[in-house]
Amino acid sequence: MEILSKRVRSIKQSPSNYANQLATERKAQGKDIISLAIGEPDFPTPDHVKQAAIEAMRLERTKYTTVDGITELKQAIVRKFKRENGLDYATNQITVGTGGKQIVYNAIQATVDPGDEVIVPAPYWVSYTDMTILAEGKPVCVPCLHEHDYKLQPEQLERAITPRSKWLILNSPNNPSGATYTAAELRGLAEVLLAHPNVWVLTDDMYEHLLYDGRSFATIAQVEPRLAERTLTVNGVSKAYAMTGWRIGYAGGPKKLIDAMRKMQSQSTSNPNSIAQYAAIAALEGPQDLIAERAVIFQQRRDLVVERLNRIPGLSCPKPKGAFYVFPSCTGLIGKRTPEGKVLTNDQEVTVYLLESADVAVVQGDAYGISPNFRISYATSVPLLEEALARIDRAVRRLV
Ligand SMILES: Cc1ncc(COP(=O)(O)O)c(C=O)c1O
Repeated sequence: MEILSKRVRSIKQSPSNYANQLATERKAQGKDIISLAIGEPDFPTPDHVKQAAIEAMRLERTKYTTVDGITELKQAIVRKFKRENGLDYATNQITVGTGGKQIVYNAIQATVDPGDEVIVPAPYWVSYTDMTILAEGKPVCVPCLHEHDYKLQPEQLERAITPRSKWLILNSPNNPSGATYTAAELRGLAEVLLAHPNVWVLTDDMYEHLLYDGRSFATIAQVEPRLAERTLTVNGVSKAYAMTGWRIGYAGGPKKLIDAMRKMQSQSTSNPNSIAQYAAIAALEGPQDLIAERAVIFQQRRDLVVERLNRIPGLSCPKPKGAFYVFPSCTGLIGKRTPEGKVLTNDQEVTVYLLESADVAVVQGDAYGISPNFRISYATSVPLLEEALARIDRAVRRLV
């Protein structure tokens, strides 16, 4: 009898983790690989955050906590939502988990029954679809176009909604495209949703603070308060405060949903790491100037990467307004032949070619539901980015 469940066999390993794993293996074999596959800031966690963790340990705050977070952290999150997003939540409408990932997982597990549909605009963070499949739901992927800067249009949303639709998942700024919705664009989507009271919205705002060109952030429950009673606003400290390893994510939403998510968590991981919870309070309540300083650096890197990519024949890359990814189209490389005589037929083969002949790891667009593209994370130093782009340029020019 097969030991592995149908459930686990129905999903795949996170492709960005996988691409990074391949890069690490090749590095271990002595190759000089540059990995642009992983989505985490290369900056250190701020010192005052680390100090708060040390203090928490000194005070022996190293025991189990309430399942979905200590009250002081929930209060800090309530203040954050009010201060930065104009959203009013009570502490019993807040849940804290082991990363934004667990929050999204809990929400889907707590709500999706077999056959329920989850509308996922593509390109998407790959976990939304696999988490939906794990819950035996049906991801309904809606391809967003290059000419719409990879953003969902209200007419597309209207067409995707059926009586089985349970969630629309929004993610702005977006992983992998960096696409960022303006308040006006969110209002357009909200208009459609108001006419469909059974559809809930999960908005994944993890990249809220990584915004460029003076753009300000908007989230749907703020833009349309009538949707707040069916919106889960997900956020976390991972990307904003360079705290990916600490594993703290959180959400605000209707109490009934938050209670159900806590129940899920109580049967899996229980509380998120107690020390990291104290560190997260320091991140949310401490000085915020680092965020803007780092965003300036990310913006310079984005400009460099977009400009270089658009100089490479066969690639075309819109300039994203947020996050730290670009998602160039590589349509112009499909059908080309490598020096070894292999014809590149899809974006997976393009990324394998770049890994093998440019020693650069990127992730294929197919993993995010849009092809032929690939994702580059520019959360790495300028010299490494310059070297990686020069290698990609040379490798692409060797294609015939
Ligand atoms: C869009 C998006 N949501 C959620 C997450 C998960 O964040 P965390 O590391 O806090 O689990 C990520 C991480 O890559 C992401 O890109």
